[in-house]
Amino acid sequence: MFVKDNPSGTVSWEHLRNHFFEMQYVKMQELFNEDKDRIKKFHIRWKDFIVDFSKNRINDTTLRLLVDFANEMKLSQGIEALFNGELINETEKRSVLHTALRDTKNKSAVTEEIKETLFRIKMFSDKVIKGEYRSTSDKPFTDIVNVGIGGSDLGPKMVVEALGNYRNHLKTHFVSNIDFDAIDELLKKLNPETTLVIVVSKSFTTKETIENAILFKNWLIAHKQDVSKHIIAVSTNNNEAQAFGIQEQNIFPMWDFVGGRFSLWSAVGISIALSVGYAHFEDLLKGAESMDEHFKQESFDKNIPVVLALLSIWYNNFFGFETEVVIPYANKLTDFPAYLQQVTMESNGKNIDRAQNPVNYQTGTIVWGEIGTNSQHAFFQLFHQGTKIIPVDFIGFINPFNESDMHDLLMANFFAQSEALLNGKVGNYAEQPQEDDVNAVYKGFLGNRPSNTFLIEKLTPESLGKLLAIYEHKTFVQGYLWNIYSFDQFGVEYGKKLAESIREEIQNKHIKGHDCSTTFLLENYLKYRKK
Ligand code: F6P
Repeated sequence: MFVKDNPSGTVSWEHLRNHFFEMQYVKMQELFNEDKDRIKKFHIRWKDFIVDFSKNRINDTTLRLLVDFANEMKLSQGIEALFNGELINETEKRSVLHTALRDTKNKSAVTEEIKETLFRIKMFSDKVIKGEYRSTSDKPFTDIVNVGIGGSDLGPKMVVEALGNYRNHLKTHFVSNIDFDAIDELLKKLNPETTLVIVVSKSFTTKETIENAILFKNWLIAHKQDVSKHIIAVSTNNNEAQAFGIQEQNIFPMWDFVGGRFSLWSAVGISIALSVGYAHFEDLLKGAESMDEHFKQESFDKNIPVVLALLSIWYNNFFGFETEVVIPYANKLTDFPAYLQQVTMESNGKNIDRAQNPVNYQTGTIVWGEIGTNSQHAFFQLFHQGTKIIPVDFIGFINPFNESDMHDLLMANFFAQSEALLNGKVGNYAEQPQEDDVNAVYKGFLGNRPSNTFLIEKLTPESLGKLLAIYEHKTFVQGYLWNIYSFDQFGVEYGKKLAESIREEIQNKHIKGHDCSTTFLLENYLKYRKK
């Protein structure tokens, strides 16, 4: 089971704090100049991944002290508890076994149910892709609509987009928000006779999803389609799904031991199997599984998720950098930052520790991002010359899916940005301000801005699986070391309940019991609502 120690009370935290005072003004440029082989110490080469973390404000001592901290907090014990299925989601009395979903070597206790579900996903997706599972009017399906939100949307949507080059003829759409204007636009493009709807909801009670599912159900009924053929579900809540009109054989299970934001490896990922075929879905799982092995076995100083988590803690808790950014140099990873935000911020946005005390240190780094090069033309100016320091994760691929010289230009930008962040516009840069340039002062920049670089051979189902598992485990390690519970989300659940009661008040046109600001806004909403 997990230790419940306050990390800021450990000896190693104290050592890190003292070490921070030595390091806070150290220039990375100097560290590189002093040690021409710095890269040798601060990178990890693993399978088709190179993770370069040399461009960080660290030296040998930093890494040693960070690893000491992980050891003092008994991180190995925590990792063991995760993989052994101990009830580490203590507040909900659940195990956390998303790793069992990709455990092809069958070491997990719950493997039988998982194997059976994977088999059902394979059979079903094969049939739909081959046109053997047919619609009411005996036609093959052409369009898939995934109706779900949060973890029942972000992961599958991101993967389907990321693996766009592996996609088959099926057109997959994702509906999450309760925004009828957007749904209406989609409905106009869809043919009800050949549309298959997947209602993905672990609880089958999430308002947005159920409202949208009802909308699609009514649309199908209005077009005389058999709902039991056109709607399938993924849920733990069999009863509600059946009551909705979905046949039992078309309900794919979810389990309490899989959190929504970690669920794309389960039947929640059925839209992935449908879009790219089961074999590629399986490769995604295999990629994640190989990262699980690395995470379990590798020593902490060479363990990719552990090193990334420790660096993030170094910046968050000692330097006071509040956000970090992820910049994939691949359009196909456009949805990656949004997916990552749920994984990390829904997990580690907590202020009570595992011993029920308010934390007296920062948790939950703010994660955001956008693809490169687009982001360079949007917010990179602030990275280079702003007053805030934002550590960056650059993610790039050595080979594109479709060979083109353009890729070299994309990647030239990828390499240039981390180099510029490191060196600034002095040192390695030949261009010196002209004496008569009155604006010279505005043109220099200091550099010394940290980044990690992921250089990956190619964006494939397997490498994507590895990448996602890295960030899942990084999130786990951070939550564990911050002594918080990463696997509940009571804050979001409260918001869901509050919205329900406000909706009732809007319907009854009776606003009651709010603060004066909310009352004012609701009254004006009702006053000007033309319905
Ligand atoms: O956003 C809150 C949340 O509870 C997430 O954790 C979950 O992924 C999402 O809602 C959707 O929940 P469900 O799959 O039960 O509809």
